[in-house]
Amino acid sequence: MKPMTIRPILTVPNKILKQVSKPVEKVTDETRALMDDMLETMYDAPGIGLAAVQIGVPLNIIVMDLAKEGEDPAPRYFVNPEILELEDEQKPYEEGCLSVPDVYEDVDRSIRVKLKYLDYHGKEITEWADDLYAVCIQHEMDHLKGVLFIDYLSRLKRNRAVKKVQKAEKLNAVGA
Ligand code: NI
Repeated sequence: MKPMTIRPILTVPNKILKQVSKPVEKVTDETRALMDDMLETMYDAPGIGLAAVQIGVPLNIIVMDLAKEGEDPAPRYFVNPEILELEDEQKPYEEGCLSVPDVYEDVDRSIRVKLKYLDYHGKEITEWADDLYAVCIQHEMDHLKGVLFIDYLSRLKRNRAVKKVQKAEKLNAVGA
């Protein structure tokens, strides 16, 4: 088995993050190796969700783990996820994103969604997601369309968020 690798996470304003991801033809060992790397990268960050495009692979793949601190890891894998139904009711939730580090803003999302996807083994699953699961899957599925949570903010707030990330990276680069 290939050892898992932590991959670099792309951050704004990297143009790859705006790409529309493509469907996966078949869930293979290669797909699973990619999902393993994604999960490892997400845990290392640390984060609760990651889309493949965030490590520069524009495919319809998401990993997630919503286990709370102290709980056993509960990795979830989504290949070619589709939202079948969205509850009309929306609620704001304070979101963050590994591609926009240290920025947190409220975004309105449907409180419940019905989704269909292929799991780690390529098995088709249809289920309802609510609470944090619903928020997270909507956030991650936006990534597959090249949409970031800061795209829902005012232009002023969005520009400020991007500048903050760029400034932090410049400081990191010089080792400050
Ligand atoms: Ni994100």
